[in-house]
Amino acid sequence: MICLHVWQPSGVARPVILLLSGPNLNLLGDRDPEVYGTDSLLDHVTATRERAHDQDFDLEHIQSNHEGDLIDAIHGARKRVAAIVINPGALTHYSWALHDALAAYEGPVVEVHLSDPKKREPWRHLSVVEPVAISSVTGKGGAGYLEAVDIAINACTKNDG
Ligand code: DQA
Repeated sequence: MICLHVWQPSGVARPVILLLSGPNLNLLGDRDPEVYGTDSLLDHVTATRERAHDQDFDLEHIQSNHEGDLIDAIHGARKRVAAIVINPGALTHYSWALHDALAAYEGPVVEVHLSDPKKREPWRHLSVVEPVAISSVTGKGGAGYLEAVDIAINACTKNDG
């Protein structure tokens, strides 16, 4: 596994974590608050970015309701960003195209979900992203985003030596 910040000249830019949010996550706060909580997506992104900054990483965030946009973002991450943290929303459960794009990315991928899909409807039990992720953090609400970014950064830091 390659962590790309190893390649960056020192003193230039901080390594980047790409946080990807899939369909409907733009509605967080409003959508099913009993399942997903009352924090907005911006709340989660802000907290996750602060956590990354504390560890000298930058964080880029892209949310899209379109599968192809997310795949393009993953392609754009190749040979550029240190790690990807992704909550693919419902694409988790059927997007083999997302799976393939993540498999073609050379750095660590961490999957995160606010809820625990495996404890919900049967159609949510399969994650096609899980096989290409080093870790899946589920059912921890917003704290899961912080844990996911820590896991991604640890994977990069470990590879530094
Ligand atoms: C989700 C779980 C998915 O099953 C669902 O489609 C979502 C949100 C989560 O964060 O818990 O949109 O990814």
